[in-house]
Amino acid sequence: MSQHFSSPPQLIMGADALEVAAGRLPTMGTKALVVTDPGIVAAGIDRIVTDVLGSALPFHVFSDVVGNPDIATVESAAQAREVAGADVLIAIGGGSSIDVAKSVAVLGTNGGSIVDYEGVDRFANRPLPVVVIPTTVGSGSEVTKGAVITNPQTQVKMVIVSDLMFAEVAVLDPRVVAKLPSRIAATTGMDALTHAIEAYVALGANPVTDAICLGAIELIGAHLVAASQGDPDSLYHMLVASSMAGIGFHDAGLGAVHALANTLGAHFGVHHGTANALFLPYVIDFNLTAAPARFARIAQALGEDVHGLSDDEAAARASVAVHRLAEQTGVPRTMAELGVPRDAIPALARDALLQADLPGNPRPVTLDDLIGLYERAA
Ligand SMILES: [Fe+2]
Repeated sequence: MSQHFSSPPQLIMGADALEVAAGRLPTMGTKALVVTDPGIVAAGIDRIVTDVLGSALPFHVFSDVVGNPDIATVESAAQAREVAGADVLIAIGGGSSIDVAKSVAVLGTNGGSIVDYEGVDRFANRPLPVVVIPTTVGSGSEVTKGAVITNPQTQVKMVIVSDLMFAEVAVLDPRVVAKLPSRIAATTGMDALTHAIEAYVALGANPVTDAICLGAIELIGAHLVAASQGDPDSLYHMLVASSMAGIGFHDAGLGAVHALANTLGAHFGVHHGTANALFLPYVIDFNLTAAPARFARIAQALGEDVHGLSDDEAAARASVAVHRLAEQTGVPRTMAELGVPRDAIPALARDALLQADLPGNPRPVTLDDLIGLYERAA
């Protein structure tokens, strides 16, 4: 079986990343639509970006993106783009704003509704250029070739994927994450850790994604706790690690954590990073026996001393390390804390079984397994 590694987009990283990106903007178009959310505007983070990029291109702002964005959000943003006459999109935010901007870019050159393009390679025309400026440290959406949009009618998170959907450039600037609230640093950071770990043990992993995922796990192990306590240097390292994990997972694939978490998000609107943080430790326990040598390597990357241990013993240290990170970052450990009732489990498990990420999991997952994992997190 052949394996794949897709390398775009270009990453611009570091203290003057926004200025460098501003220099590139006039080659991409004539007018920009900034796509962001009300939290970013309230925190003034959009201004950090537009003060620099706005000198390169005129822009309009669409700031109505919501978490777990749905078809209606995409349609409103697409309308705002048309009204503004924008031919470049600038996403400022977490995965939600980035996914909305990518979807609007697809509609900008292909017309129709985003529902028409659910799946892989379902549209013909190259989307409008998208510049992404991630403001959280987890989604990885800035480097992936797809978007996730909720269909409220089916309660399913639609995935729109194409090699044409890579952003033009992803800008990793320490200024935009320097004041990230602790709770968001913790939950989005755990999302990045989930991407790196799920991709490293996924059935689609290959030597290139392995190297990137292990590098991301090492950085996250070293910086997640300090980042969740507000350390700006650690927040920047998490931002870079998050993009690395994204590059790893979009070719290697994900697994059961995302199947469980995406379903919880679609049914109850639970924040994506929060849901992944909740399930990651329990799924690792479930998967340990399927890939002990790989989990042993994860334990090492997280700084565990595995010297002299067997693969099985060392693999168990990966579980210990991730449970400890969950404790130290203060992420929710039960669905009850998120207001999800136990009697929702059968319906959640039925839908999780249909999730596209599930077949990549290193251990086959049955309906009963999914029920068991939801119960463990209840
Ligand atoms: Fe994720």
